[in-house]
Amino acid sequence: MTAVRTPRAFFTPLAIGAPEPYRAPPVATERMIHFIPPHIEKIRAKIPALIKDVDVILGNLEDAIPADAKEAARNGFIELASANDFGDTGLWTRINCLNSPWALDDIIKIVSTVGNKLDVMMLPKVEGPWDVHYLDQLLAQLEAAHGITKPIQIHAILETAEGVANVEAICAASPRMHGLSLGPADLAASRGMKTTRVGGGHPGYGVLADPATDGSTDAPRTFYQQDLWHYTVARMVDACQMHGIKAFYGPFGDFSDPDACRAQFLNAFLQGCLGTWSLHPSQVTIAKDVFSPDPDEVTFAKRILEAMPDGTGAVMIDGKMQDDATWKQARVIVDLATQVARKDPERAELYGL
Ligand code: GLV
Ligand code: MG
Repeated sequence: MTAVRTPRAFFTPLAIGAPEPYRAPPVATERMIHFIPPHIEKIRAKIPALIKDVDVILGNLEDAIPADAKEAARNGFIELASANDFGDTGLWTRINCLNSPWALDDIIKIVSTVGNKLDVMMLPKVEGPWDVHYLDQLLAQLEAAHGITKPIQIHAILETAEGVANVEAICAASPRMHGLSLGPADLAASRGMKTTRVGGGHPGYGVLADPATDGSTDAPRTFYQQDLWHYTVARMVDACQMHGIKAFYGPFGDFSDPDACRAQFLNAFLQGCLGTWSLHPSQVTIAKDVFSPDPDEVTFAKRILEAMPDGTGAVMIDGKMQDDATWKQARVIVDLATQVARKDPERAELYGL
């Protein structure tokens, strides 16, 4: 028997006085998790404008923050969290990984000061459920000690080979689990992939079309580049969906290639992801576009729902067969569009919602 808590105990707070765990992650539009380096004062000054523009603001304390700025980043995050009202924009932080010298202070200092403002703590380099259990217990103790009234959720980055092997157990580890993000940079290193990129494809990874069959040996053969992340994204989406939590693409590092960024985001969206990270303001626009359903798709999905009011049977629309299963796909799109419309008046207008 695997060591899991009983159904009743699973939803019991892990510390006396900690808030009741959520039964499901709260409904929220999270098309982009916008990363900012909180130790930079100029960036902190832009937070009020950013709150209006993005779905989630994440104060990054981990990779990309120099070792000698780790404390300044933590303090900068506490300062920006205290100084601003975030409304329905999410406030997240990415703490340092659990085996680092900074993680414990990140967790204790942030929860004890701004725990009531923090929605989600992103945990990097998660290898298995034990990492989630540790943070789960610690958060409950801190929530109880500091009068935190809503549970702080955990979002794990899938970025080690061991983490991928344990992905279902990670998703199932706690009712605090909000979702997972793909971490293609660390995962590439952990897997021994021969790349030097942060996400995206690689020109060498693909399939060469068969040679011509008419005997002409020198006819050029087309090379079709493939998505290096297809397997991992699919695996992550299945694990998240089966556990009722959310899947996200992660970073795309080449800011000079918005087309490739859009293509990577779109693959993730079509495969089931709900959002992505944005590391640069230009990626916020791309993410908004890609992770808001396409207005034409929304219109077509609405036609399916209208044509099959009780969701059963079969109808033809524009020569395409619709049945209970396409009705369910249409429901996914219309539900997402309705949720996005609540946050984004521009899209609400485009969707006619
Ligand atoms: C993100 O943290 C990554 O490693 O890609
Ligand atoms: Mg990483």
